[in-house]
Amino acid sequence: MSLLKREAENILLNNRREGYTLPTNNKLYPAQWNWDSAYIALGYSYFNKEYAIVELEKLFEGQWSDGMVPHILFHHKDENYFPNHNTWQCGDKIPSSGITQPPIVSSILKLMLDKHEFSSSEMERILNLVKKTKNYLEWFYKFRDPNDTGLVSILHPWESGTDNSPLWDFPLSKILIEENLEYKRRDLDVSSSDVRPLKRDYDCYITLLNKFRNEKYNPEKLYDISMFNVADIGFNSLFLKACKDLVYIATKNNIECTSIEKKITKTENKLISLYNKGDNSFYSFDVLNKQSLEIPSITNYFILFADLKNEEINNSVIQSLKKYNSNEKYFFSSIKPDSKYFEEIRYWRGPVWINCNWILYKGLLEKDLEFANKIKSHTLDLIHEKDFHEYYSCKSGTPYGANNFSWSAALYLDLINN
Ligand code: GLC
Repeated sequence: MSLLKREAENILLNNRREGYTLPTNNKLYPAQWNWDSAYIALGYSYFNKEYAIVELEKLFEGQWSDGMVPHILFHHKDENYFPNHNTWQCGDKIPSSGITQPPIVSSILKLMLDKHEFSSSEMERILNLVKKTKNYLEWFYKFRDPNDTGLVSILHPWESGTDNSPLWDFPLSKILIEENLEYKRRDLDVSSSDVRPLKRDYDCYITLLNKFRNEKYNPEKLYDISMFNVADIGFNSLFLKACKDLVYIATKNNIECTSIEKKITKTENKLISLYNKGDNSFYSFDVLNKQSLEIPSITNYFILFADLKNEEINNSVIQSLKKYNSNEKYFFSSIKPDSKYFEEIRYWRGPVWINCNWILYKGLLEKDLEFANKIKSHTLDLIHEKDFHEYYSCKSGTPYGANNFSWSAALYLDLINN
């Protein structure tokens, strides 16, 4: 155990650059990613609190003046990555992408504050981050729910963090690919095409990006002009929990937070309204095409992380999760294996991801401790057996994608300490 602990710490340290940490040490992701950094900060908090705080400070250095925190910050103008700063052409102080990612940062700050003691100067820096997180969450309500429905939309599959999930197949099928679209992918130089998104997916990703760039990423416009607009269950669950955790920290520290506080109940009720009693499931909603997306994705269970105040629903979701991977040696697969959408090794279309297990573990801790502990020990066993990779087959445990993957290492450190 302690050898692996050291290995996990070293992965983070070796992937660390000037104040921020790459998702992996190979060339697949040569920049700072939003939700990766949040997980990474939690990992550092167990052995270097300064690095934990700096990681998040570095992330918020890239916050736009309207409040958005981009999904990628290009601290170095590395042209080997696609799409790099030249394609995006945006960023306030730091060149960045023009879209965002799940804002789990306030939940991570809460976990850090609950677990560790901080000095008063560290506390001051953390509360500064809390205020910036508040602006970030307000940005979602303002620009991603302009009609005040209670749910926020993602406008690009990359915003979900689960890039090529089958959840997006239907909404993406409606996109008119830009004519004469030209670009060169770089992910296939360092990763096999069997495990990566397809060309048609990339055509959509870049068509959307180009359209957003043409609008100069004006958040007032993007919601209406985007050819992709989805109220995703996974995203909204992480978002609702982020709002709850922000309010919790703010209240404890006398930070004014009524703008978020006032919205939470509506978001919670709206999410509950997406519950489908017939098959104990939550399904995302394609806002643009007005269609429910009935895909058996593990992210639908992130609802457990949102801590809905509805025991009956929570219990039936837990029962359904218990059956989700009943025939697989390793869990949780990103897509249910008996579904026609399942692909054993293709990225977010089947493989097991450590962050999904961690989200469900955290969500179950106060609802079903025995099940939570089962998920934890299973996840630790997978890492003991196969090491810190990006994702794994649920059938054989074979690792795929990047090795020395930072969030797998960081979340391992959290799991062994809780
Ligand atoms: C991929 C993943 C995303 C992650 C990024 C860096 O794009 O889909 O969730 O943040 O890689 O690890």
